[in-house]
Amino acid sequence: MAEPGTLEKLVSLCKRRGFVYPGSEIYGGLTGTWDYGPLGVELLRNIKNAWWHDNVTARDDIVGLDSAILMNRTVWQASGHEDAFTDPLIDCKACKARFRADQIAESACPRKPSKHPGEFAECQLTEARKFNLMFKTFVGPVEESAATVYLRPETAQGMFVNFKNVCDSTRVKLPFGIAQIGKAFRNEITPKQFIFRSREFELMEIEFFCKPETSQEWYRTWQDTRFAWYQSLGLKGSNLRLREHAKEELAFYSRGTSDIEYQFPWGWGELEGIAHRGDYDLSQHQKFSGKDLTYFDDETKERFLPHVIEPAAGATRATLAFLCEAYAEEQVEGETRTVLRLSPRLAPVKAAIFPLVKKEGMPERAMAICNDLKKHWPVFYDEKGAVGRRYRRQDEAGTPFCLTVDGQTAQDQTVTVRERDSMTQTRIGVDHIRNFLIERLID
Ligand code: GAP
Repeated sequence: MAEPGTLEKLVSLCKRRGFVYPGSEIYGGLTGTWDYGPLGVELLRNIKNAWWHDNVTARDDIVGLDSAILMNRTVWQASGHEDAFTDPLIDCKACKARFRADQIAESACPRKPSKHPGEFAECQLTEARKFNLMFKTFVGPVEESAATVYLRPETAQGMFVNFKNVCDSTRVKLPFGIAQIGKAFRNEITPKQFIFRSREFELMEIEFFCKPETSQEWYRTWQDTRFAWYQSLGLKGSNLRLREHAKEELAFYSRGTSDIEYQFPWGWGELEGIAHRGDYDLSQHQKFSGKDLTYFDDETKERFLPHVIEPAAGATRATLAFLCEAYAEEQVEGETRTVLRLSPRLAPVKAAIFPLVKKEGMPERAMAICNDLKKHWPVFYDEKGAVGRRYRRQDEAGTPFCLTVDGQTAQDQTVTVRERDSMTQTRIGVDHIRNFLIERLID
């Protein structure tokens, strides 16, 4: 588990180094929104690319989709979101603060000294009422009920409503999945813990359709596959756990749900939910749309609604988990070194290239190497300050390799490679740099 105080240090590093900034900051911010800076956007994209590669590109049984954020309102009536996608909300009439009724015990009243809501004599808490988490807006110029649409709170429904399109336009056969990455919006009552719970975030979801009799097996397979995925990108097994929901916790249609949880600096938190949704979604959309969404099995000549296993991961939440896992401080030669030990596959910058000094043709040679590598990866050229300082700057950014051009380079065409984690330095030929990186960046 991360050291106490890690989250505060990480938030500060993220701002200072351009990973994540508070949304709309110069106007005082907008709670629950975050902007991804130059390093953050690369990290987030690498996480999404790794997910897409491992779940779509590298598999034969999953196809991709990118559906619209705005959908016909009936989609959300069919899915149950319009009625049931709610959190219980309690208001305090005295201080105007709002709390989630199910989190009162962990919430703090804004008055000082710090107490829970309801513990001051002045507190006037209302009864809990249902608060729908979907953001509402209007299509067209008239703000009327008939024009109401929602910003999607999940990408899943886009995949269910395109089930027939995908079956008709491709050669998919059960079992198969549809995968989608995209923005989702939830009007969270209490956004918190940095990018862990925000009002705008990104999801990476798979709807995996299978024959009902194979669904339990697929449910288990997806639990193992997804757990192993986080480990393959650097989350330690001891910081991960699979938590099967108790019967009382399950949504009425769910035949089983388990969460992959990560040990964040404040405790265990959900990274991804894997749900066995039976045929609930397809049957609801069939009912509300009046369209036949059954699947015809060529071999058995049977027509039926497939069952669905849904691994639903938060891309922005995974970003926080990978950052927490990677963050380390250590003593090196009497100084504190801050380092992000990100998997090379996820690291925003793959290599930094330095001339040892700004003379004797070193900047030109280093720049030529940089320009060559830039065709393949995000790399960074830096000639400012002592080399030790440049290493430290890259350590904080999570850059796995630093290549230094020095006096020897002109003589034998070699550079120094310094590895972020071990800090060891070796020499390799300029001609070998590309292969050196290929071997280490592609798993
Ligand atoms: N279609 C299923 C679905 O959306 P979910 O458990 O509500 O399931 C999936 O969300 C994942 O999305 C969660 O495991 C979490 O990683 C992420 N997530 C949910 N709400 C979030 C929020 N407010 N901010 C950031 N990530 C969130």
